Amino acid sequence: MQIPKSLPEFYTGSPVDAPDLRYRSAFLDDLWDTLEAKHVLLTAPRRTGKTSIMDHLRAFPKSGYAVVYENVQDLDHPAEFFAALLSRFYDEHPKVFRDTLGKSWDLVKIALGKIKEIGISEFKVALRESDPDWRAKWKLHGERFLQQVRKHDTPILLIVDELPDMLLNLKGGDPELLREFLAWFRTQRQNPKPKQDKVRWLIGGSVNLSSTLDSVGMVDLINDLEDVPLPVLTVEEVMDFVSTMLTERGVGLDPGVPARLAARLGRPIPLFMQMITQDLYRRWKKRERALGVADVDAAFADLVISNAARDKLQHYYSRIARYYDGSKVSAAHTLLSRLSLSDGGLSRSRLLQDFEQILAAEGVAWPAHQRKQQFNQLLRDLENDFYVAEITADQFDFASGILKSWWKKYYA
Ligand SMILES: Nc1ncnc2c1ncn2[C@@H]1O[C@H](COP(=O)(O)OP(=O)(O)OP(=O)(O)O)[C@@H](O)[C@H]1O
Ligand SMILES: [Mg+2]
Repeated sequence: MQIPKSLPEFYTGSPVDAPDLRYRSAFLDDLWDTLEAKHVLLTAPRRTGKTSIMDHLRAFPKSGYAVVYENVQDLDHPAEFFAALLSRFYDEHPKVFRDTLGKSWDLVKIALGKIKEIGISEFKVALRESDPDWRAKWKLHGERFLQQVRKHDTPILLIVDELPDMLLNLKGGDPELLREFLAWFRTQRQNPKPKQDKVRWLIGGSVNLSSTLDSVGMVDLINDLEDVPLPVLTVEEVMDFVSTMLTERGVGLDPGVPARLAARLGRPIPLFMQMITQDLYRRWKKRERALGVADVDAAFADLVISNAARDKLQHYYSRIARYYDGSKVSAAHTLLSRLSLSDGGLSRSRLLQDFEQILAAEGVAWPAHQRKQQFNQLLRDLENDFYVAEITADQFDFASGILKSWWKKYYA
């Protein structure tokens, strides 16, 4: 059978190419509407499709925006942040860049000259060479950059992916610099007001920015951003994905297959939805007989122990140590282990008891109200990060079926 040309490939890790992105058109329309008047914080857990959304904004911009996208995960200084944004701007929109920045900003003129004369290929390198004090003068240069852009007709959408990681890097290196940067950045976003501004910011990341900044008393420095959560794919969307991706490839399916897959997936992490569906397709290719519900169960069992899934799943375990505070690391690991062993999840009061035991074993002597408050915060973080979901009133379980089986196998 001929596979239709318009049928997307399976994406099992990289962002989905803009023309292949499905189930997001209403969200994208709303997002563009929100950007008319606001700066946006796009939040969603790991592997759920944030970068795919950002790539779509870049590929199909509205209202004449020039879109600049940069992933700042590994940066650890505000000066690097602006150098990276400028460099990307130069690469992606050379003409707008020259018109807005290259004509009347001496520093950029010198950098452009260096590129021409000595063939430096990266703009950020040329920039650093043009001003050895670049790092110390980040505020000055940042302000100048925004001022210049604001004078031009073309509106600019600056997309900053994984900003929470950069903020954590800053916090680790110099907490005062983190505060200074956040305070400065907030002022830039409010003056002029977004509606009157040519510059729009869209900030994204999979780390829960509010709770990270809350723990260091800085959450007020981002509360002007419009918090836009990326919607979770619905059961209908998951079932549609499974049936179209398979039947349009000529795969025969028992009618119960899509529903079984959706049920086993639990709260769908789109990456896992893709991996399981691809696995089913490969099974079918080997034998070319219609797939049944038992094939779905076999695909799940295999995925949990496959090499392809291991790194992706391992990440969910390791990220707790990086992003959760102090004694919450071992508490999170232990609570998740207990949940992974349960049949249908555990009640809130049972989890609180377990949490108190863990604290006692670690010699943490908090008063009762503090224990309860820390517990509630931990449970909220685990919910926001997609580890757990409240399945019925006061009863919690792993949000993802795959993660639960994997956790049980390797960590419980
Ligand atoms: N609309 C969608 N339909 C189907 N699958 C999707 C969709 N969006 C994302 N995915 C799946 O999720 C994976 C990750 O997408 P993407 O990189 O955009 O997510 P992310 O949230 O930015 O991930 P990370 O947390 O790693 O940065 C893709 O490889 C694909 O498997
Ligand atoms: Mg991403």
